[in-house]
Amino acid sequence: MDHFTYVNSQLQAEGVALRRIADEVGTPVFVYSSAAFEGHLRAFDSAFKAKPHLVCYSVKVASNLALLSKVAKLNLGADIVSGGELFRALKAGILAEKVVYSGVGKTASEIKQALAAGILMFNVESEPELSLVSSIAKDQGLKAPVALRVNPDVDPSTHPYLATGLKESKFGVPVAEALSLYLRAKDDPNLSVIGIDCHIGSQLTSLSPFVDTVSRLKVLLGKLRAAGLNIKYLDLGGGLGITYESENAPSPAEYAQKILSGLGDEEVTLIFEPGRAVAGNSAVLVIKVLYDKITPEKRFVITDGAMNDLIRPSLYGSHHAVAPLTQAQAGTDSIKVNVVGPVCESGDFLAKDRLIPPVSAGDYLAVKSAGAYGFSMSSNYNSRPRAAEVLIEGDSYRIIRARETQEDLIHGETL
Ligand code: LLP
Repeated sequence: MDHFTYVNSQLQAEGVALRRIADEVGTPVFVYSSAAFEGHLRAFDSAFKAKPHLVCYSVKVASNLALLSKVAKLNLGADIVSGGELFRALKAGILAEKVVYSGVGKTASEIKQALAAGILMFNVESEPELSLVSSIAKDQGLKAPVALRVNPDVDPSTHPYLATGLKESKFGVPVAEALSLYLRAKDDPNLSVIGIDCHIGSQLTSLSPFVDTVSRLKVLLGKLRAAGLNIKYLDLGGGLGITYESENAPSPAEYAQKILSGLGDEEVTLIFEPGRAVAGNSAVLVIKVLYDKITPEKRFVITDGAMNDLIRPSLYGSHHAVAPLTQAQAGTDSIKVNVVGPVCESGDFLAKDRLIPPVSAGDYLAVKSAGAYGFSMSSNYNSRPRAAEVLIEGDSYRIIRARETQEDLIHGETL
């Protein structure tokens, strides 16, 4: 749901006009609505209330401590893919026993850190990783709780970079090989095999790949139980898409209905790792127009926001709506422009051939649906300090990450 709407011609979220934030905090700035973020988390959680379940917010998507502390306050868990994400989740108050840990390249020190913290389960992605987790658990005198991340070979029909459950993918263990690896793990005294995990991709706007996955995993679950394994958790990962442009993204309730009916009366605690569906439409990136540059071929709106702030258009060709903070008067003719940043790459664009109302230097624009994989994928390329992050809560807002300074850019460097 879009919580960013015009009130008296000013784009606002909850009770705060974004113009006020742009003037007071500067740009570029990511502005999150807490009502949107928490509302999406609650909608996801309550969609599954008919069944034992745990929602583990996917930390990589937007990992600011203030957002993670909202997750903690709702008693939800976290999906992590690194020691750094575990550090953040615990700092924000998320309980270790609600943390699941995926990723194809967990290092020994990250595995030790997660074991010592007492996470809920490792989603193990290969045979050598299983051996390493086992030997570290043995050294620490602990039993490691594990699931295998199974690759069900389902086509999620999304951008190729966002598909993770195809046979050629680096992720997970092929479903046909999973049984034998599970049987090895069962006999390992350092492991406690408690779950099945998968994550087939991201930005899925059709529910049928999820349904296919559930039916494949149900077959595996039956085999594992017949072999005497006590599988308590079925982790279905994240992946539910959102509306960026005109996609018809299913709601969490529609998603839940399909999954629950596919699962039938199977007794298992479900785990979900939603990210984009929670954060994506919870934030916009506010940028300022620097120049309106007209060439014989194109018209460029050059802004202070760039690919280092939001890389999704450059990396995936993805669409983000661009809207002025002050609504254009009815009847204003649009102009066709490329919205670009100052970065020295032709791939530096936020929108291409887009119709927007005429703008001039100093005007503010909102790049919408920027909450997921926005700030968390930002970089310092071209020695650009990273943007500030702001959280709106009702009629007030607070800075949840200060804009980086030029001093921050050289932190840890030596002459
Ligand atoms: N669980 C695992 C194991 C994942 O790898 C991911 C995302 C998620 C959960 C969360 O998926 P979501 O609910 O957000 O679809 N940077 C790309 C998306 C990469 C997805 C990475 N994995 C983008 O900007 O579209």
